[in-house]
Formats: sequence, structure tokens, C-alpha cells
Amino acid sequence: MLTISPSDRVFVLAGAGVSAESGIPTFRGVNGLWRNYRIEEVASPHAWNRDPRLIWEFYSMRRRVAAAAKPNPAHFALAKLEQTLGERMFLCTQNVDNLHEQAGSKNVIHMHGELFKSRCDRCNLPPFRDTNIYDPPAELPRCDCGGRIRPHICWFGEVPFDLDRIFHALDECTVFMAVGTSGVVEPAASFVAHVGGRARTIYIGAEEPANASAFTGCHLGKAGEILPRLLSE
Ligand code: OAD
Repeated sequence: MLTISPSDRVFVLAGAGVSAESGIPTFRGVNGLWRNYRIEEVASPHAWNRDPRLIWEFYSMRRRVAAAAKPNPAHFALAKLEQTLGERMFLCTQNVDNLHEQAGSKNVIHMHGELFKSRCDRCNLPPFRDTNIYDPPAELPRCDCGGRIRPHICWFGEVPFDLDRIFHALDECTVFMAVGTSGVVEPAASFVAHVGGRARTIYIGAEEPANASAFTGCHLGKAGEILPRLLSE
């Protein structure tokens, strides 16, 4: 069990491993997305400019998979922790699905964007809810301004969302917990080093992450099994 005192502030960094038991593939695992797709072909601004149809094909496939998924006990355990801690908990997810929200989490920071949102690649139209499947050869969606509608996803070479709020929460936290993330993608991989020496740092996941040495404790196994146990009162 993880002891959380009334003065603790908990920062949770979630990764693809949290949604793995819901049937959403991770990126770098055995059947990971980056084993079957080349990042530079489907997840970069360059790829978008070169072949937007291929990008929409990829994100339409991911929308289909995510739309069929249901939250697992890891998502529910994190939602329950938020109910207990209120604003003393900060949930920062790298996941673009909406399973945290489906499990009941109210305040979720999606630092890499949201699969079920889109935005214009030209004007300042705010991101909007979009569950459509854009498989070729249908026309690519267009904004009223004439720009192209793109997935609201942080691609490689782009700046993640909400970094100001994230670093503010990192500066305030006394417990840092990373769950199901391989610890290789920046800046998320360095969050643990940012709080190290000041906050308790705990990793929960199927295997040791690349940045394992920065954590004070590691719990290896499935998030859906470990989190409910670790966070039970
Ligand atoms: P990765 O695919 O890199 O890592 C997933 C981690 O989850 C691995 O360390 C697995 O061991 C672990 N894992 C697998 N199944 C698990 C389970 N049931 N319970 C607990 N852990 C499990 O995914 P991320 O670290 O989230 O970014 O990837 C970070 C970013 O890289 C993603 O947000 C995405 C990707 O490129 C963008 O697309 C911008």
C-alpha cells in the first residue's frame, strides 16, 4: 500500500501501459504501434504535409480501436484516487484515448493530445470534439477558413500541451508516480529527474523503464493489478 499523508500532493504520469489491458496497443511493446508503423510517416508535421490521407488513415484506425475500448482497473483506481485527494492529485497522461475520463477522472491533462479531437492546421479555431473516421478516398476534412482539419495530437517535433501547468504541478508534488511508460520520450521521461531528491518517486509497470535508476521504488507487473492494490486504503 502507498501511504499518502494529508499534506502530500501526488503527480501521476500515465503511459500506454495503463491502457494496454483495455486492448489499446502500446508503442514499443511486442505488438507496439511503432513496430508496425514508421513514426516519421504517421506522426510528424512533415508527414502531415507530405501525405495527410495516410495520417488520417492511421488516426482513423486508432479512433476505431479506442472507441471500442473500456477502462480497466488501473483507470478506475486513478479516478478513485482523484476522488479522495481532490486538487492534491494531478493526472498527466501521455495517452490520447479517453479511458481516464470514462473511468470518472475529472481533471486529466493530455500532454500528447486527444484522439477524439481535431483542429485546423491553419487558423486559431480551438480543438473540437471529432469522432469521425476519415478513411480515404473520402475528401479530407476542411475548416471554414480553407485550412485542413488535422488530429489534435502532439507529433514528433511539436511541443506537448500544457507544459506550464505540468511543471507547476511537478514543482509542488511530494509524490511522483509513473505508470506504464517506457521512459524514453521527452520531456515526460525527465519529469522524474525534475522532482528527484524532493518527492518520493514510484514506478509501476510491466518492466523496468529506461529511466528506472531515477525512481526510489519500482513495482513490476500489470497496472490493472498493482494500482488498485497499491492505492487501496
Ligand atoms: P511505450 O509503448 O513506449 O511504453 C509502454 C510501457 O508500458 C512499457 O514500458 C511496457 O512495459 C508497459 N506496459 C505494457 N503493458 C502494461 C501493463 N498491462 N501494465 C503496466 N505497464 C505495461 O509507451 P509510452 O511510454 O506511453 O507519443 O510512450 C510515450 C509516447 O511515445 C507516447 O505518448 C507516444 C509515443 O510515441 C506520441 O505519439 C507523441
